[in-house]
Amino acid sequence: MTTAEKIGQLVQRMGGRQRALNSRLGPEELEKVRRGEVGSYLHVAGAEPLRELQRVAVEESRLGIPLLFAMDVVHGYRTIFPVPLAMAATWDPSAAESHARIAAQEASAAGLHWTFAPMVDVARDPRWGRIVEGAGEDPFLGAAMAAAQVRGFQGSDLSAADTIMAGTKHFGAYGAAEGGRDYAGADLSERTLRETYLPPFEAAAKAGTASFMTAFNALGGVPTTGNATLLRGILRGEWGYDGVLLSDWHAIEELMAHGVAGDRAAAARLALEAGVDMDMVSDIYGQDLIASVEADPELKARLDEAVMRILKVKRDLGLFVDPYKYHDAAREAAVMLSPEHRAEARRIAERSIVLLKNEGNVLPLAKGAGRIALIGALADDARSQLGSWRARGVEEDVVTLRAALEAVHAGVTYVRGADSRSSEAAGIAEAVSAARASDVVVMALGEDFDWSGEARSRSSLELPGAQEELFEAVASTGKPVVVVLMGGRPLAIPEVAEKADAILVTWLLGDEAGPAIVRTLFGDENPAGRLPASFPRTTGQVPFAYDHLPSGRPADPDLAKDTARYMDLPITPLYAFGYGLSYTTFDYGPVAVDRASIPAEGGRVTVSVAVTNSGLRAGDEVVQLYMRDPVASVSRPIQQLRGFRRVALAPGETRMVSFTLDAAHFAFWGQSGGWVIEPGLILLSVGSASDSIHGHAEVTLTGQSHGTSSPASIPVLSSDRQIRGNLNPT
Ligand code: NOJ
Repeated sequence: MTTAEKIGQLVQRMGGRQRALNSRLGPEELEKVRRGEVGSYLHVAGAEPLRELQRVAVEESRLGIPLLFAMDVVHGYRTIFPVPLAMAATWDPSAAESHARIAAQEASAAGLHWTFAPMVDVARDPRWGRIVEGAGEDPFLGAAMAAAQVRGFQGSDLSAADTIMAGTKHFGAYGAAEGGRDYAGADLSERTLRETYLPPFEAAAKAGTASFMTAFNALGGVPTTGNATLLRGILRGEWGYDGVLLSDWHAIEELMAHGVAGDRAAAARLALEAGVDMDMVSDIYGQDLIASVEADPELKARLDEAVMRILKVKRDLGLFVDPYKYHDAAREAAVMLSPEHRAEARRIAERSIVLLKNEGNVLPLAKGAGRIALIGALADDARSQLGSWRARGVEEDVVTLRAALEAVHAGVTYVRGADSRSSEAAGIAEAVSAARASDVVVMALGEDFDWSGEARSRSSLELPGAQEELFEAVASTGKPVVVVLMGGRPLAIPEVAEKADAILVTWLLGDEAGPAIVRTLFGDENPAGRLPASFPRTTGQVPFAYDHLPSGRPADPDLAKDTARYMDLPITPLYAFGYGLSYTTFDYGPVAVDRASIPAEGGRVTVSVAVTNSGLRAGDEVVQLYMRDPVASVSRPIQQLRGFRRVALAPGETRMVSFTLDAAHFAFWGQSGGWVIEPGLILLSVGSASDSIHGHAEVTLTGQSHGTSSPASIPVLSSDRQIRGNLNPT
């Protein structure tokens, strides 16, 4: 390969725009392919058009190296699943894996090899609009969801025609953006970086993600796309990661705007030296790298490494054996939005729904619930259910809440009431009349699709537009009000929490949003989602995370004392991480450990608890295990998730749920760097939410040891087995 041909492999170009795929693939672009100046395209799709493009690369360029075709397939390709934050609310990694498997089947049938997903950025500030794309605030839950999606996209064999490369993003602390402003930098201690932000990436690396994408932002003043410590040091060095590393969109060029490169050539050198293999669309590698490479043997060696990684992944996909294996038009026609895919989209949507409140058991609604006033623009907004990334999803495929409710219930009056974002309040009177004439009100409130996602940061987490006013007016009718809260981020809804009779968080649930919500409203499904991120009381409470450090002066509501509290608000969130109710109830037995002490070096402990469905309906409980290291050489969080298991329980059924942890799960980032496991007591707590703990146990670590990876990235073995069957068959 000539140097120019090598550089060509590092170039990813736009084949179109997100909403006009393939639109830039004109004659000039094909000439570039013939000259070997392109390694990959994004914003392209279609088995046939991409077969032709691939043919030009393979048959008409000197070396005949196949191209890689990529797209953001984030929560479905044609079949659209719940947004990722909603999928995290399932607390069911197998659901996330199954979604990714289907997305890969559809995307690969459309000629794609590569998705820019999963997005695994931990986000603790819901002002940041991209919280919708990830798994929320917790590194352990995030790591499980990350690994599951990598497995789903890639399957067990990347060279199979129905698997695609995962593109785990945005390495390494994009979610820590200061003030929740997208693209803003972060300044983190190494401990926070290691313990909170990196574990999902490490889990994805262990799961074999074929690629990573760098983040736009800077960490401690060093933009990630030029951050050799992060990219070469941690990712490649410590984790031994040998897959492809891609820049984000124009991020190499943006090294100049960040002020760490004076010109394009310097930006190119910085990124390549830091370890970035492929340049997404800035064309800086293509245009501005060659002179530096030819003048510098060390840089040339870096170029060779980058090319090798890209060629390897093309080989792993099987493209050198059969470059056209992803271009089967018959498969493309057959696979999209099949009934099985739709059914799975609905199943996962149902699993994503979180019940926050259910006063007087207003839910589930009786099948003959009488007249229902359905109020709110979002109830009839198909587009919004597709979320911010929709790949090839279309509104026409979406069944809205309104359509689904009207299909199963005769007495529905639908009134918009207020727009989901404008402050126009003229429709409120009509909503109030409809509420008065009804037996029960179902109100869809929240944010539309365009209020979360990239560059969709907000300074306020309250309900947008006139929705608060609409809610107050409808609630004051005294009718039972069920709020269906939609959107892509936690919202601050204290009034709704106080006055609504029931609240279901339904996020943005994809094509099958309506049926999933309606089946939950009527009790065909029992909600069991749990919050993957805390819901604050007000915007002023964020950033917030349940796993904060203890204070020397813990909060005390007594204002006469100087403690870590707000004068005007409890410091607890409105709804805590892990929270969610059910239409049934669960009882917990005592928490037991199989041994009182284990060696820090190689020890293992199993924590078990019996959980009973003490109500009359079948339902799932999400059993959550938290740890605390109360005395260590550095202050440790008051609790940290270290295990969870979603268990289905028939009425009266009891199952023994067990978690097996290694001593390495109790490691932390030590004062002088490295994962340390110190001797002493570890508290283990089991509950149904971070703020609803039912029992504790302890284990003592003996001796001292070192871990090799972040504890939150190590999967915990969990199991459940029946110990008592259904006592009240109904
Ligand atoms: C920029 C976004 O940050 C990234 O997530 C996405 O994959 C690329 N654009 C490509 O669309």
